[in-house]
Amino acid sequence: MGNASETRMPSLIVEPLASRHDRVAFSCGTPRLDEYLQRYAAQNRKRDLAQCFVLTPRAGTSEIMGYYTLSGHSIEVTTLPSDLARHLPTGIPLPATLLGQVAVDTRYQGRGYGEKLVLHALRAALRAAREVASIGVVVDALTDELAPFYAKPTLGFVELRDRPRHLIAPMNRIRAMFPDDATEVSDVFDLMERAAYMRDLLNDARDSLQDLSAGGASGRVGEILDELQRRLDTLQAKG
Ligand SMILES: CC(C)(COP(=O)(O)OP(=O)(O)OC[C@H]1O[C@@H](n2cnc3c(N)ncnc32)[C@H](O)[C@@H]1OP(=O)(O)O)[C@@H](O)C(=O)NCCC(=O)NCCS
Repeated sequence: MGNASETRMPSLIVEPLASRHDRVAFSCGTPRLDEYLQRYAAQNRKRDLAQCFVLTPRAGTSEIMGYYTLSGHSIEVTTLPSDLARHLPTGIPLPATLLGQVAVDTRYQGRGYGEKLVLHALRAALRAAREVASIGVVVDALTDELAPFYAKPTLGFVELRDRPRHLIAPMNRIRAMFPDDATEVSDVFDLMERAAYMRDLLNDARDSLQDLSAGGASGRVGEILDELQRRLDTLQAKG
């Protein structure tokens, strides 16, 4: 992983929408979804309305092969199928995650990228739900024909009861789909602590290089190397 917020699929990358991405060239055959990417996706990210992730062939390229958006959402318990509604509170909105848009450029459709993007969105929602609870990922399928796409066993969406083509992938099923992502919050804190150590090490290494290039005393470099060694020993002892 080259960056904490980018995730590799085999030779592909899903990353947050950025200014280098060529939004104008994207065309999925549904003008509303092309227009969303071109006119609203970046704006909505800035305004904290929806996060937009794009599928690209390589890191650092401008091409967008597909995209999806995620936002916070809520649903009424009465919309859930009875087996999912059991034991849940009534009369209050239940926290959920909205898969607002999913689209794949026409050049890449029918090759499994749509399914991969939805799986990526489900995993992102699962990770976010460790810290901000969500009962599941909700989507409005654009057409009747698309509902089976979301309902296939690999994606696991089931129909909500309020309107046609309104579906939810329950969080407990998503959790079962990604057992490796079952890290608890305490583990995350541990990882954060380790990351802080690593950041310190990198800063020291950068300082040491600056000392060298500025013709600084070589003794200082030796001191820093000793300190690096000491910290690595501590890190190893912790791990
Ligand atoms: C829908 C979409 C995201 C699917 O992406 P994709 O990469 O083509 O899909 P995949 O190759 O992963 O999977 C294709 C499956 O979905 C079905 N599917 C794809 N597009 C479909 C459509 N427009 N209508 C009905 N079924 C569709 C295919 O039949 C296929 O089923 P199978 O796996 O049983 O053969 C893509 O076709 C797209 O961007 N369409 C235009 C925009 C759109 O409709 N977005 C969905 C908004 S809810």
